[in-house]
Amino acid sequence: MPKPTTQFVCSQCGYTSPKWLGRCPDCGTFNTMVEEAVAPALPAKNRTARPALSRPIPLSKVEKENYSRVSSGISELDVVLGGGIVKGSLVLVGGDPGVGKSTLLTQVAAHLGKSHKVLYLSAEESCSQVKLRCDRLGLDSDNLLLLNETCIENAEEHFYDAEYVIVDSIQAVYTETLTSSAGSVGQVRECAGKLMRIAKSRGITFFIIGHVTKEGSLAGPKVLEHIMDAVLYFEGERTESCYKILRAVKNRFGSVQEVGVFEMTGEGLAAVTDYSTLFLSDSRGIAAGAVVTPSETGNRCMMVEIQTLMAKTAYGLPRRMSLGVDLNRLIVLVAVLEKRCGIPLGNQDIYLNAMGGIKLGEPSSELAICAALASAEKGIPVEKYTAVFGEVGLTGEVRGVNVADKRVNECLKRGFKRVILPAKNMKACEKFRDKIELVPVSYVTQMIKEIF
Ligand SMILES: Nc1ncnc2c1ncn2[C@@H]1O[C@H](COP(=O)(O)OP(=O)(O)OP(=O)(O)O)[C@@H](O)[C@H]1O
Ligand SMILES: [Mg+2]
Repeated sequence: MPKPTTQFVCSQCGYTSPKWLGRCPDCGTFNTMVEEAVAPALPAKNRTARPALSRPIPLSKVEKENYSRVSSGISELDVVLGGGIVKGSLVLVGGDPGVGKSTLLTQVAAHLGKSHKVLYLSAEESCSQVKLRCDRLGLDSDNLLLLNETCIENAEEHFYDAEYVIVDSIQAVYTETLTSSAGSVGQVRECAGKLMRIAKSRGITFFIIGHVTKEGSLAGPKVLEHIMDAVLYFEGERTESCYKILRAVKNRFGSVQEVGVFEMTGEGLAAVTDYSTLFLSDSRGIAAGAVVTPSETGNRCMMVEIQTLMAKTAYGLPRRMSLGVDLNRLIVLVAVLEKRCGIPLGNQDIYLNAMGGIKLGEPSSELAICAALASAEKGIPVEKYTAVFGEVGLTGEVRGVNVADKRVNECLKRGFKRVILPAKNMKACEKFRDKIELVPVSYVTQMIKEIF
């Protein structure tokens, strides 16, 4: 009987089994068995032959490699990458379906194609589909080669002729060494490992597109993050009117503090450089439930409007829906308002939205969410040029946040007249006292009194 060439390994505890199992018999977790290739055993006579011994080198003697950076042709992407593309690096671009990953990298490929050899490995779309996109984007280049192939071994020899390779997407390519279908965790990991070895040995730069699954784990880019040099996430809603934010979650050659903002247009993705009114609406100050908060996204402070809507629950449990803010955070804040401020929300359906498709991950937006909820419940609009920021504790206290002075400065720059901020941050913001009205608060109840 031929020896099996693959085995299944539990990604939680390392238990191995010759066949796939739904539940790991060792640690008891479900759905964690991942297929892996079994390395063939070396013949006995080779087993003693070790690879050439490597020696430690003193730090001062280590030769510095010249990490020259090449512009991607898109200023915002260069910023996120830490100043440009580093030769021989592996960059993963993850994002929801339809957010514009292929569009972004087609634009990059066409730009690089002006002076370098670029290969676009399209495993998801046919060459004519890519051509159609290029036509829409007004791109053309003889140095840009398209390859429609899903087997990574077949594509491999073409990689060696190129300086830049774009793999669209890692979930659609497969390696022959594994029997599992393309897109499975084992396949994704094995293919990415192969690309990494090529990148490091040949100095070829790879851009890899990955799809994010709901949990971000199964066959998603999460399993790849540790072998990549840079991991970028492309966030945003699928609709064209929304802004898309490119964020680095890992970067071996630069900071992860930067973000890039894009807008999808008929001619492709355009970098947005004016942030002042992106995430604000015209109904501020007129409609109840809208409050603006200065949010620190990446290294940039942006004014973001939070909108809430309430409707009486018709039957059963009240609904809570949230776009751009974690739902659990909304539920906690609703509980704080009910219990600590006596605002009855138990019979209201609550809908919350952060304008422009931005995601507010920071706790500093919590006080603004409370303000928006209180405003919606009372039906009183919040004054147009008032901004609110601060973290809210379960006891109803308002806690200080980071970079408070930067936030107040942004409010000032954008023409806001009044800022409600945590009392603990007041000291850092003293210098703005005569330019803008600062209202320090220590409790949510105090904020509610101040805002109306
Ligand atoms: N003519 C057009 N004008 C404006 N926007 C367009 C046009 N055609 C396509 N789009 C936008 O481009 C998006 C698709 O972009 P793209 O194919 O780059 O996404 P993707 O992230 O690669 O998706 P997938 O996950 O399917 O590969 C669409 O969601 C649409 O918003
Ligand atoms: Mg695509």
